[in-house]
Formats: sequence, C-alpha cells, structure tokens
Amino acid sequence: MMKSTLIATLALMTLGAPALAAGDAAAGEADFKKCKACHSVIADDGTVIQKGGKIGPNLYGVIGRPVAGTDFKYSAFIKTVGESGLIWDEAELASYVTDPTAWLKDKTGDAKAKSKMAFKLGAGQEDIAAYLASLTAE
Ligand code: HEC
Repeated sequence: MMKSTLIATLALMTLGAPALAAGDAAAGEADFKKCKACHSVIADDGTVIQKGGKIGPNLYGVIGRPVAGTDFKYSAFIKTVGESGLIWDEAELASYVTDPTAWLKDKTGDAKAKSKMAFKLGAGQEDIAAYLASLTAE
C-alpha cells in the first residue's frame, strides 16, 4: 500500500514539476535591454528584432549555433571552444552569461583565458536563454 502510494506521488511530482532550468522567454525579452549596448538580434532576412550595438556578435539563432559561429572577431579563447565543436544550448548560454571569463577558463582549461565580453548577468540567465532560444529560423 505505502509503496504504491509513494510511486503514484512520485509520478505526479514528475508530471507536475516544470522542467528544471526552463526559463521564461517573456522575462528574458525584457532583460535583453542589459545586452543591447553590445548585441543586436537581426534575422537572416535582415529583420531587426533587437536594435543594439555591434560590440558583440549578432545573437539571432545563437541557440543551436556553434560557439563563436559567426563572422564576428571573437577572442582566441572562445574560438578555441568553438573549434572543439561545442554548440550553444540554453544551459551553456546561461552558464556563459553568468561569468564569461570563468566559463572560458573552465572550457579551455587555461587559467589565463579571458573573455572579450565585459559583462556578467547575475539573475535571469535561464530567462535570457529561453528568449534567445525562441529566436531561430525554425
Ligand atoms: C559590454 C558589452 C557586452 C554586453 C553588455 C553583453 N555582451 Fe555578450 N558578448 C560581448 C562580446 C565582445 C562577445 C564576444 C566574446 C569573445 O570574443 O570572447 C560576446 C559574446 C557573447 C556570446 C557568444 C556568442 C557566439 O556567437 O558564440 C553570447 C551567447 C553572448 N555574448 C550573450 C550575451 C547576453 C545574453 C547578454 C546580456 C545578458 C550579453 N551577451 C551582454 C559583449 C557584450
């Protein structure tokens, strides 16, 4: 009896729990103002989704794209990570924006690695990731 109740409870919890680290794209869209000084989001057909700076790469379709995968002049460190074949997913992006230099040190194993992105996002990382994931060609 106890055991079947437990199993039923666990099954309900699994169904009811939101996927871990699933962000809120609408909140992420509002938060994108923190990225705009340096990043734009411009679709492949030229549609401007977020009018921002060009200090950083265009973030259109970044989720699912190889790391350092545009013609932007990336730092050597992030290019090394890109050459390893890593593709941006929401979890990696959330981790990257939390502390880009720490992320590069971790990925390259090089304690001297330093990001060209001089910004850290302290909250709402999953939301930004969900927002950017919603902006793809598909
Ligand atoms: C002060 C300028 C600045 C701000 C603010 C900034 N970035 Fe960046 N970002 C950069 C630069 C420069 C790079 C290129 C990093 C390199 O070459 O090492 C970059 C790279 C990236 C990349 C890697 C893209 C790729 O093509 O591989 C992502 C993802 C990213 N930024 C997301 C964000 C998000 C999301 C925000 C807002 C929360 C943000 N950035 C805020 C300057 C900035």
